[in-house]
Amino acid sequence: MTSVENVGVVGCGLMGAGIAEVSARAGLDVVVVESSQAAAEAGRARLEASLQRAESRGKLDSAQEVLQRIRVETELDALADRGLVVEAIVEDEAVKVDLFKRLDQVVTAPDAILASNTSSIPIMKLGVVTSRPQQVLGIHFFNPVPVLKLVELVPSLLTSEETTTTARSFVEDLLGKRSILCQDRAGFVVNALLVPFILSGIRMMESGFASAEDIDQGLVLGAAHPQGPLALADLIGLDTTKAVAESLYEEFKEPLYAPPPLLARMVDAGLLGRKSGRGFYTYDKK
Ligand code: NAI
Repeated sequence: MTSVENVGVVGCGLMGAGIAEVSARAGLDVVVVESSQAAAEAGRARLEASLQRAESRGKLDSAQEVLQRIRVETELDALADRGLVVEAIVEDEAVKVDLFKRLDQVVTAPDAILASNTSSIPIMKLGVVTSRPQQVLGIHFFNPVPVLKLVELVPSLLTSEETTTTARSFVEDLLGKRSILCQDRAGFVVNALLVPFILSGIRMMESGFASAEDIDQGLVLGAAHPQGPLALADLIGLDTTKAVAESLYEEFKEPLYAPPPLLARMVDAGLLGRKSGRGFYTYDKK
């Protein structure tokens, strides 16, 4: 089994920054690629803020020392020498397919693994556009990445055993997380169960059955959930929630996965949850 020695991450948003952070905290050298200089700066600021927070809470000795292991770049070529690249860009199949084609050209190490953090896009669609589908798999982290222990490993029908073993060793032995193995089906294990639950909460609110606060309180106090479905949708991002629901609906054609109109209208309005400052609740925009 080859072991991962350095990591590339594409996208330095909510998830990409988290994946870069946990990889660098595990002692790995990390290169992150963003789509523009402005996005790279925002990503770097996101990383710094998270690491400073960890340092001030006593969970990390030196944010600076970890930051030294992370470079944020804007050209994909910066990933040429990476042993593992994790893609964490927008949840859009066409955009991800295009990126995987380009990664296949750019990443030169013959046994490099090309992974996607996608929540719902079939890994096969990304694998087959590369010359090395046996080295493509899903490594699906959970938000917030530095906090949540779970990672879903998603080999496609063409992924090699060795790729899955190397990826498992990366997430478990290096990052200290727990992994579960899932079939290459939209939503994997967690979102296939969680997304219909969130959509039911949105439909309940949309129909006027109960307020957002009461729905969330109901689940927190009555079912011991750490947060209710609408607060959770705000945390995930309403655009991401809608995109994942659409992929699930596309895959299974079950009404329970169809995004409710209210969710679509909120996304159109730019009400994306915590990241935009307003979703089902209002937040101080950081
Ligand atoms: P986000 O919108 O916070 O970040 C996406 C980042 O990718 C942005 O900073 C954007 O500038 C960058 N980007 C877009 N196209 C790019 C390109 N071609 N090259 C380089 N950078 C590019 O989105 P988020 O929430 O981080 O989601 C990313 C992925 O992770 C999606 O596939 C999503 O489904 C998945 N995911 C999201 C979770 C969540 O709770 N938000 C949980 C688990 C997976």
